[in-house]
Amino acid sequence: MPIPLITKGITEGLSSIPHIYTVLKVVPWLLLIVALKYYFGGARNSSERLMHSKVVMVTGGTSGIGASVVYELASRGAQIILLTQHSPSDIFLIEYIEDLRKSTNNQLIYAEQVDLSSLHSIRTFATKWIDNVPPRRLDMVILCANTASPSPSKRKATIDGIDEEWQVNYLANFHLLGILSPALRVQPPHRDVRIILTTCSSYIGASKLDPAQLDRDAIAVLTQNTTATKTTKSLKKSAAPAKLKLKPKSKSLFAASKLSLMVFATSFQKHLSAFKRPDGQPTSTRVILVDPGYSRTPGTRRWLTGGSLWGLLVYLIIWPLWWLVLKSPQQGAQSILYAAMEARFGRGEGGWMIKECREVDFARKEITDDAVGKQLWELSEKQIEAKETEGAVRRALEKKETELKENVKSEAQAKNTKAAPASASGGSKEQTAGSRRNRKGNTNKQ
Ligand SMILES: NC(=O)c1ccc[n+]([C@@H]2O[C@H](COP(=O)([O-])OP(=O)(O)OC[C@H]3O[C@@H](n4cnc5c(N)ncnc54)[C@H](OP(=O)(O)O)[C@@H]3O)[C@@H](O)[C@H]2O)c1
Repeated sequence: MPIPLITKGITEGLSSIPHIYTVLKVVPWLLLIVALKYYFGGARNSSERLMHSKVVMVTGGTSGIGASVVYELASRGAQIILLTQHSPSDIFLIEYIEDLRKSTNNQLIYAEQVDLSSLHSIRTFATKWIDNVPPRRLDMVILCANTASPSPSKRKATIDGIDEEWQVNYLANFHLLGILSPALRVQPPHRDVRIILTTCSSYIGASKLDPAQLDRDAIAVLTQNTTATKTTKSLKKSAAPAKLKLKPKSKSLFAASKLSLMVFATSFQKHLSAFKRPDGQPTSTRVILVDPGYSRTPGTRRWLTGGSLWGLLVYLIIWPLWWLVLKSPQQGAQSILYAAMEARFGRGEGGWMIKECREVDFARKEITDDAVGKQLWELSEKQIEAKETEGAVRRALEKKETELKENVKSEAQAKNTKAAPASASGGSKEQTAGSRRNRKGNTNKQ
């Protein structure tokens, strides 16, 4: 069909081809769209690795980029442990896992409840993991969980009274890996263990890390009384959800949380490498940072829409633009899959940064600065210790309050049961006709 048309065009002139001028106008635009789509789609992972028998722990594996990573690794046979904030009995989670097992033909997909906005939840899971004897196999930890508040005015505090972005994006990862560290260090020296942390190019614009300022901004000033007082009224108050009281000039900690995560990643690699194994072998664990690139995920949508219905409307109207310039979650997963599967990341010192499926340099020099790393490590430990202590007091108070309520309830029940026979003897209860008590009553009357 095109050959006769082209021949006709050459021999009889362009105007002899029907609609040729319209086609000539449209084709360059189509080519431009295809070229832009290809460009913004980013690089594709071409590395392959046998994932059978590999145990992979993933946070944020239930949506967005994390879900795509999980799908790809599960399809290659990896055993997946999803760390999710939802209860294992959550119907959506059950269906998600069942679908994943079917579509990847892999039954080894499990979920553990780990709410990253609760330090207690992280500790409960991680201590259970490291307490296992013999130590459990662990080949990879992929940290994709993330939260971004649509605007500084919509910042939230976690149950621990910490800025949510700071806790979920940074502190939770510090806490989780800190507790899992012994489990990572005991993996056999021949095992290729990888810790993959996801970051975002917003780290480049983050302000200089100042521990004192970070502490002031990240720790919420609670609007409710949390001190351990004795009256039931104040106990009720302390059990109420915490509310972040914004400081006048406070801003989003998203970029700072990502920069801190990167500083921690390089410090954690040094911490693992400094460990002297009893067998004298070097560490088998490598830390890798990945920037997946801007992608159309639920998190990005929430952020772009500003968390409002009007924002969502505008987002939907200009959706073709987002379709063009943002990656799909599958495209966003490519650099993470590259970090998980490329053979050379199973050797060497670790502490690499990957973007568009290739190694890149850090854009901020404090990421590899030992002094900054030490300051941040100390700040994180201090925050965790303080908040875990507060959390323990809060849980003890809540337990006490529940016990108090149960005691009051059981006392009331006991009073009722005492009162019941008295009312029966008062003659209000009807006697069954022909019963011993009825006959006796009748005899007495006579
Ligand atoms: N998307 C982008 O444009 C982009 C760009 C650069 C970097 N990145 C990075 O790539 C990673 C993945 O991003 P994404 O856009 O795919 O994220 P996303 O769509 O926002 O998904 C976030 C995931 O984190 C989980 N999560 C949130 N709060 C949690 C909590 N308290 N406890 C446990 N899990 C929690 C969510 O669980 P639920 O499913 O239960 O809500 C969800 O699975 C992030 O580190 C992000 O910074 C993304």
